[in-house]
Amino acid sequence: MEVKTIGILTSGGDAPGMNAAIRAVTRSAIFAGMKVFGIYRGYQGLIEDQIEEFKTQNVSNIISRGGTILKTARSADFKTPEGRKLAYENMQKHGIDALVVIGGDGSITGASILAREYDVPIVGLPGTIDNDLAGTDMTIGYDTAMNTIMECVDKIRDTATSHARLFFIEVMGRDAGFLALNGAIATGCEDVIIPEETTQYDQLKALIANGFRKSKSSSMVLVTESKDPQGGALGLAERMKKEFPEYDVRCSILGHLQRGGSPTAADRILASRTGYAAVEALREGQRNVMIGIHNDHIVNVPFHKAIKKDKPIDPELLTVLRVLSI
Ligand code: F6P
Repeated sequence: MEVKTIGILTSGGDAPGMNAAIRAVTRSAIFAGMKVFGIYRGYQGLIEDQIEEFKTQNVSNIISRGGTILKTARSADFKTPEGRKLAYENMQKHGIDALVVIGGDGSITGASILAREYDVPIVGLPGTIDNDLAGTDMTIGYDTAMNTIMECVDKIRDTATSHARLFFIEVMGRDAGFLALNGAIATGCEDVIIPEETTQYDQLKALIANGFRKSKSSSMVLVTESKDPQGGALGLAERMKKEFPEYDVRCSILGHLQRGGSPTAADRILASRTGYAAVEALREGQRNVMIGIHNDHIVNVPFHKAIKKDKPIDPELLTVLRVLSI
């Protein structure tokens, strides 16, 4: 079946570069003679019929803007068969015969369920700061978040050094340590705590017990957020304060500022390339794939591969961090 009308939505946590992706999909589709609908507030907006036809001017001047002009939501209703039925009915109402879903693993999981239940062509774009989708080297938003983390940690370094303190700095990432690990390398941190590595706490203790490097007046450790109150930077800082009372320990949680800001060039280019490729994929009759990038080539990753839970961390990155922080 030829795709004539597509709907675009952004879902889950927003990520810088989502607007550039919306622009790319909208303009590529219109260029190819398709009709485009913008769906507001993710799957929830699809269920509630918050849908508007998009022309090229709807996406003017948004390439540099953070957030998403389509808004986003985490939809509990879409997790129910009733919610998905309403979503499908609204697609039919507007004559939308394919969807482009921009979001993280929850959004791609939702897309794969809808595609299966209603036989709808859907193409995903990896939009998340977490970089936790498999099959793509980078996700849209990751590079910007990484640069934001770098700027923040550089600033914390100034005060950490002035006071000779040990800082635990918490970054986002949910269950993935990419932001923390590469953020730590980019800022010359002493260590990192990431969910993928379970032995790190002991290693960190050994590192602190040895006084880090003797010539260093301050130390910084990046920590991936954690649902466990004992984990995360706050829990860790409390434990370390007790175990090493000689250290002047402080904690900083970067929080949602990591999700904002104008996207970097890398994110804008990634969003533009993958957005264009999403429309091409639909034109070629492809479905249930997420568009990713691997070795600078566009790749189409089947949904089930993109959302599998084991996008591995390269262990060499940990080695690089540790060697360079002696
Ligand atoms: O998935 C993106 C992300 O920013 C995660 O890193 C974080 O755990 C989560 O979203 C926070 O979600 P919310 O904005 O709903 O608190």
